[in-house]
Amino acid sequence: MFPITTHRLMFQRPKGTGTFAPSDILRAVLAVIDLEGLDDARCTALAESQLNDAEKTRLAGFRHDRRRKSFIHGRLAAKAALSAYFPGIDPQSIEIGSGVFDQPIIVGGGDDLQGMSVSLSHSDRFAVALVFHRAHPLGIDVDLPTITDVPAILDGIAPDVRDMIRAHDLDDHGAACLLWVARESLAKTITTGMMTPLELYAPSSIDRKGACFEVRYANFGQYRTLIWPGAQGWLGLTLPDQTEFDPASLLSSMLWG
Ligand SMILES: CC(C)(COP(=O)(O)OP(=O)(O)OC[C@H]1O[C@@H](n2cnc3c(N)ncnc32)[C@H](O)[C@@H]1OP(=O)(O)O)[C@@H](O)C(=O)NCCC(=O)NCCS
Repeated sequence: MFPITTHRLMFQRPKGTGTFAPSDILRAVLAVIDLEGLDDARCTALAESQLNDAEKTRLAGFRHDRRRKSFIHGRLAAKAALSAYFPGIDPQSIEIGSGVFDQPIIVGGGDDLQGMSVSLSHSDRFAVALVFHRAHPLGIDVDLPTITDVPAILDGIAPDVRDMIRAHDLDDHGAACLLWVARESLAKTITTGMMTPLELYAPSSIDRKGACFEVRYANFGQYRTLIWPGAQGWLGLTLPDQTEFDPASLLSSMLWG
C-alpha cells in the first residue's frame, strides 16, 4: 500500500476572516508520507506518474541523490494533499515551484487553485505537506534532530526559555525537537527561513494541550505553533494565534501510525 495518509484540518475564528468567506479559507489538508514504506523503485514510478514536466526538468538538474529524493518526496506529499483538497485534480497539471526565498509555490491546476498555498517539509523518515488558502497563513515542519544536534540547538537559549522547557519535564533531546520544529514551522509561515537571528523566534510561553505542545512567541504575537511529539519525528504546525483548532482532531497515532 502507498504509505501516505491525508488529514482534513478544520479551523474556526471568532471574528476576522478578511474579505473571505470562512468556509473558503478555514480548512487545510495535511499529507504525511512514511518514507520507510516507499522504496526507490516505487518512488521513481510515482515521480514519473505525478511530477509534471517542469518538475521533471528540475529533478534532472539535481546532482545529489539525497536532494533528488527530498524533492520528489515533498512534491508527492504536496500532490497527495492537493488531491485530497480538490478531488479529481490531475497532479501532473500542477507544478510545485520555488519562490525567491525557496518557498514552495503552486503553479497551474486551474482556477480552483487560485489563492492556494502549500508548506513542505521532509525528514529522513517522513515527508509532509500542508495545503491551505494563503488568506489564512500556515506553516509545517517535521524533524527529528539527532542527539549530536542537541547542543547546537540548545546553546544560548535564554534562561526564561529553559524554565519554560523544564516545566514540561522534557529532556534535552525533547527540548531540542520542540524548539527546532517550532521555529522552522514559524519561519516557513513567514517565509524568512532560518536566515534571521534565532533569538527572534524565542518562545514567550510553552503550554501542554493534551498530546501536543503549544508555543507562543515573544516577537510574533500573531502566530502560535502546535507540536506533536513522535518517536520517529516531531511535527510543528504554525497557525494564526486567534484561529481555533482542536489538536485532538489530529492525534499522534493518526500522524505516525
Ligand atoms: C527553509 C528551512 C526552514 C527549511 O528547513 P529544513 O529543515 O532544512 O528542510 P525541510 O525539509 O523542513 O523544508 C524544506 C522545504 O521548506 C520549504 N522552504 C524553503 N525555504 C522556505 C521559505 N523561506 N519559506 C517557506 N518555505 C520554505 C521548501 O518547500 C523546502 O522544500 P523544497 O526545497 O523541496 O521545495 C531552512 O532550511 C532554512 O531556512 N535554511 C536557510 C536557508 C538556506 O540555508 N538556504 C539554502 C540555500 S543556500
